[in-house]
Amino acid sequence: MPKGLSTVSVHGGEPDRPYADSITTPIVMTSSYTFPDMDDVLAYVTKKKERFEYGRYGNPTTAVVIQKLKELELAEDAEVFDCGMSSVSCAILGLVKTGEHIVVTDDAYKKTLLFCEKILPRFGIRSTCVKMGDHEEMEEALKKNPGTRLVLSETPTNPYLNIADMDVLAALRDKYGFVLVMDSTFASPYNQQPLKQGADVVIYSATKYLGGHNDLLGGAALGRKELIDQIRDYRNTTGGVMDPMTSYMLIRGLKTLALRMQRLNDNAMAVGTYLESHPKVRKVYYPGLPSHHDHERAKKYMTGFGGVVTFELEANLQETFDFLSAMKVFKIGPSFGGVEALITHPMTISYYDYAPEERKRLGILDELIRMSVGIEDAKDLIADIEQGLTRIPLKAKAGAK
Ligand SMILES: Cc1ncc(COP(=O)(O)O)c(C=O)c1O
Repeated sequence: MPKGLSTVSVHGGEPDRPYADSITTPIVMTSSYTFPDMDDVLAYVTKKKERFEYGRYGNPTTAVVIQKLKELELAEDAEVFDCGMSSVSCAILGLVKTGEHIVVTDDAYKKTLLFCEKILPRFGIRSTCVKMGDHEEMEEALKKNPGTRLVLSETPTNPYLNIADMDVLAALRDKYGFVLVMDSTFASPYNQQPLKQGADVVIYSATKYLGGHNDLLGGAALGRKELIDQIRDYRNTTGGVMDPMTSYMLIRGLKTLALRMQRLNDNAMAVGTYLESHPKVRKVYYPGLPSHHDHERAKKYMTGFGGVVTFELEANLQETFDFLSAMKVFKIGPSFGGVEALITHPMTISYYDYAPEERKRLGILDELIRMSVGIEDAKDLIADIEQGLTRIPLKAKAGAK
């Protein structure tokens, strides 16, 4: 009988009594591995024997976390990286050649879009950015660029938590023959497994839910061996390797993935429901709520809806700042997916350098807030929001709600 996700999170990839009968996997701090004699060297170079050679190509602690991730998603192969952006850049540069074309959806992570727009042209790789959810525009881009090598989409997306239609993306992939890469950082393997829904490669910033404690940077790519091999070859040449200490911390974080994710899903639903009932809140975006524009799609593809809740205050910019500054349990800061609740103001923290018209086009309003609940008690998170909202005057229009 296949093991459940919690059991795999704890035991997956872990060797039995790896060192001195320890229950945990040791951290092997080494950059090089020695050979007992030249027979062993020859066995290794002629590929008769698999073993470690040099830290950039592999490490026993890192190998455990890779195996755990593979087992979590029943992926044929996986690789880990020093951060999520390395998994994005290595996946694209490992799979796409000079002269080829890719398609990316327009609400992908800001640095992913920047990478496509500014860095890929230096490698002679063209990209077309299409509106998330506009499948006609995507198909137009595919028709205009025959032989498009890769399509990269995220799900859910930031900050409005749009949900990708996996069936449509997989059908387009079957028709046009590109590699479908899904960045599923906002879902985590607990809430969605895109490889089982048609994706060829799934990418994570392990910095978020996988690590789960706001204390490491990491990335992962999972998929068919033939594809991950190409990504790994690129990474083995250019760098971006996860170090042994981080690998251990990621193993440790993954062991509680199911517990943390369930708590985050529950807390976010409680916070989202509370916000939606508040007269000083104009609109809430949480895919688990029936009011979310992609709720039906989220129910189809996800088993839980994650720890991020976005909302618009019925407030001006100064009042929005007053609300944020009043937060005590929620700490002001970027990122999400850890045990600590974080709150961010996308307009200042992520888009301050954008022209106001550009921010407007992207839907980054002055009064937009994104929060990532932690594993705290929901009542304390709600009490924190409630005291923050007392800093905002009740508007006549909002009061009529
Ligand atoms: C969806 C998504 N992908 C990739 C990244 C990049 O991850 P990292 O910060 O670990 O490089 C982020 C970072 O916020 C992200 O939100």
